[in-house]
Amino acid sequence: MIKQLTLSAALVLGLGSAAHAAGGAGHVEDINFSFEGPFGTFDQLQLQRGLQIYTDVCAACHGLKFVPIRTLSDPGGVGLPADQVRAYARDVLFVADEGANAHLYDFEEGAARGLLPTDNFPAVENAGAPDLSLMAKARAGFHGPAGTGLAQLFQGMGGAEYIYSLLTGYTGKTKEEAGTTLYENTAFPGGWISMAPPLEDGRVEFDPEHANDLHHLSEDISAFLMWTAEPKMMARQQAGFVAVLFLALLTVLLYLTNKKIWAPVKRAAKGQPAE
Ligand code: HEC
Repeated sequence: MIKQLTLSAALVLGLGSAAHAAGGAGHVEDINFSFEGPFGTFDQLQLQRGLQIYTDVCAACHGLKFVPIRTLSDPGGVGLPADQVRAYARDVLFVADEGANAHLYDFEEGAARGLLPTDNFPAVENAGAPDLSLMAKARAGFHGPAGTGLAQLFQGMGGAEYIYSLLTGYTGKTKEEAGTTLYENTAFPGGWISMAPPLEDGRVEFDPEHANDLHHLSEDISAFLMWTAEPKMMARQQAGFVAVLFLALLTVLLYLTNKKIWAPVKRAAKGQPAE
């Protein structure tokens, strides 16, 4: 029995590491995002720039179908005023749709309407690209040591870092495989991705002006995708903080209560008169 168990354990571990080696986890840069740590918060202006990058570039191929447009006005997140959110849904997304994704909306001539804040962001299914709503939580940047994930205790899951590293990890080499062009990328597991480098220095211009080199653009869109994947991160952290504070207080109260309840018993045990 023990022999069998050891054997299967060895097999599982062996297979695990073989699979790991085949996956060839890529190189992921550690970035200090504003939302990291127990007191981290999203940087509102960064999220707004990220939204613009998503709209201008990524939305051509990637949907955000789990994200309700109205959440763009939630406090602690992108924080757009409600009228801008309405305008964004009605004009920006609608105009974008008329191009690449018009077929997704069955626009009837004349009956077309812009999206409403109560709609979700559009899904995009014609580009063979995954939906980005939850991507920052679906990917982990840090695995080690030896695939145990212990590094995540200190560095976080690294989903946003993974996306940053993916966008900045193109080496410039390409190859053709079965009629598809693959681009070498140091962060993508396996090293070759079918997405052409979507960002380069100056790809998006911001108003008010802000650094728009590849590094900054990649940070901004990664932070935005962290928000789409976990829009309530701040509320969760706050609830956790209050819970810990409450438990600490409760510990003190319980300790004192315990002392008080057992005081007469202890006194009796020592042969002193009870009060
Ligand atoms: C021209 C279409 C196109 C554009 C524009 C585009 N992507 Fe992609 N993207 C793809 C395709 C196709 C894949 C699937 C690649 C694969 O699995 O080989 C992909 C995959 C991804 C992945 C998943 C990688 C993984 O680990 O599976 C992420 C993250 C991503 N894109 C982010 C972005 C971001 C951020 C932008 C905007 C700055 C963007 N993409 C713009 C086509 C595009």
